[in-house]
Amino acid sequence: MVEPYDASLTAFSVLMQGQDDATIRHCLRLREVCGALAAELGIEGRALRDLEHAALLHDVGMFRIPPAIRAKPGPLTDEEWEEVHRHPDLGAELVGGITTLESCADIVRSHHEWWDGSGYPRGLSGEGIPLGARVLAVIDAFDTMCEGEREKPKRGPDEAREEIHRCAGTQFDPRVVEAFDRGFDALVRLREGGEPASGTSPSP
Ligand SMILES: [Fe+2]
Ligand SMILES: [Fe+2]
Repeated sequence: MVEPYDASLTAFSVLMQGQDDATIRHCLRLREVCGALAAELGIEGRALRDLEHAALLHDVGMFRIPPAIRAKPGPLTDEEWEEVHRHPDLGAELVGGITTLESCADIVRSHHEWWDGSGYPRGLSGEGIPLGARVLAVIDAFDTMCEGEREKPKRGPDEAREEIHRCAGTQFDPRVVEAFDRGFDALVRLREGGEPASGTSPSP
């Protein structure tokens, strides 16, 4: 049963990101799949709830990026990418201002950090990145590859898995990638069990 609080949060998320159906479907799938991967890693209780909330809201900062950039079909300029790269901070600012969501703000802020320190916005590395953000990063990338990124075709789950492997130790926490492997079949089923997505909007 979905708790009333979670139902309200979902409504809030839809409202904030409502102009972009593909993004909201992506976020709903991420909440489910991140929850399952978290279980594989023994994440539970408050940490699990924070991760699920952050997964639902991780791209909420995109709401504050000019729509002309968000919806631009072609390649983005360097300046436009710079704008897009503000969305983790903008999202964290937004959720951090809500008392009941404060504790997931750090995950939202860190979902594009890389294990080797070359991510954004703060260039955190290794275990300096919140564990929830390391889980979210893997599933965010996996879902994005399976849905098709900006100018890149959709990839099948096995092909996306290979890319996740290739990036273990650089982009992704190797321990999270191991857990992703252990739970792979169930995670794919869960991802595909959601509403079929037809949009191709990228997850920035
Ligand atoms: Fe995303
Ligand atoms: Fe993002």
